[in-house]
Amino acid sequence: MRAFYFVMAHTAIIGTDISKAAQILFDGGLVAVPTETVYGLAANALMPEAVIKIFTAKGRPAFDPLIVHVKSVAEFSKYAVEIPEQVQKMAAQLGPAPITYVLKKRSLVPDLVTSGLDTVGLRIPNHPLTLALLENLDFPLAAPSANPFGYVSPTTAAHVAQQLGSKIDYILDGGSCTVGLESTIIDFTGPIPTVLRLGGFSPENLRAFLGPNFQIAEHSTSQPKAPGMLSAHYAPSKPLYLDDLELRIKQFGKEKVGCLVFQKKRPEIPSVQQLVLSKSGDLNEAARNLFAALRAFETMPVDCIVAEYLPTDGLGAAINDRLKRAAFHHQ
Ligand code: TXA
Ligand code: MG
Repeated sequence: MRAFYFVMAHTAIIGTDISKAAQILFDGGLVAVPTETVYGLAANALMPEAVIKIFTAKGRPAFDPLIVHVKSVAEFSKYAVEIPEQVQKMAAQLGPAPITYVLKKRSLVPDLVTSGLDTVGLRIPNHPLTLALLENLDFPLAAPSANPFGYVSPTTAAHVAQQLGSKIDYILDGGSCTVGLESTIIDFTGPIPTVLRLGGFSPENLRAFLGPNFQIAEHSTSQPKAPGMLSAHYAPSKPLYLDDLELRIKQFGKEKVGCLVFQKKRPEIPSVQQLVLSKSGDLNEAARNLFAALRAFETMPVDCIVAEYLPTDGLGAAINDRLKRAAFHHQ
């Protein structure tokens, strides 16, 4: 009889066992958790020896701070000081939402989590499994997006398993993320609230809470205020170009160009090479589909991706921001 030898990479178990996830986190391990935005790679935020494993697993530079996830606004004052009235109000009204509030931190939050900054990003993730998990814990969760540094964020448990499965202890499977873009990060420590990263909470919705008195930061790529603002932060492995289909057809041949479109496929290249973000032109649906679509091109027999800009209202500007970053190396 022939013997078969299997060499199996250690792969994290995927499941929905909250007590198991809680135990691993309590013991200082890593668990990928679902949120409404993207999957996070979580560890006990108050345990530096656990947090360091996040940086190692992701290959993330230490200067890039982590968001701290809590179960409710009542927790904010445990980890932050000088919480402005408008944050209290907004967070209380909204509850779990795709928003990260940057506030002055308490010394309880390890410097490793905040990369030595005197501020901390706090977020209440809107996912029933992760909220239930947080209810079971007496510590908050530090969690960046659960992808290798510089790659597209994961929006399913399978995305996490494909890239980080061998490096983490458990993946809590909460299905596909309902928002699909990372949280909107707002710095409340300056004279006026400043959006550091456009994300899953639209500027229009922000205006409803903050009025006109907030600004959206111009991103500096060399000195990012939120290092997620580093250009080329969302890069898929195939070159992505914006809005120059004719040129790319000439360069690669029309059988080798993939196309990421908003509503309608382009007649210039074969239909099977194209992905539509939202047939009905719904920007929320487009956001939900964006990262999975970028990943899908990886296994298609195309050599490049051409994406089109989306309308800039609602989540459109945040989607365009991710596309620009994905395209940065190839402009
Ligand atoms: O939706 C999200 O925000 C997801 C889920 C898992 O919560 N998390 C996420 O984490 O996108 P990450 O690490 O991929 O991006 C977090 C961004 C980083 O760019 C980091 O620089 C910024 O948040 N950040 C964290 N703490 C900060 C702080 N105190 N001041 C300024 N930026 C901060
Ligand atoms: Mg990230």
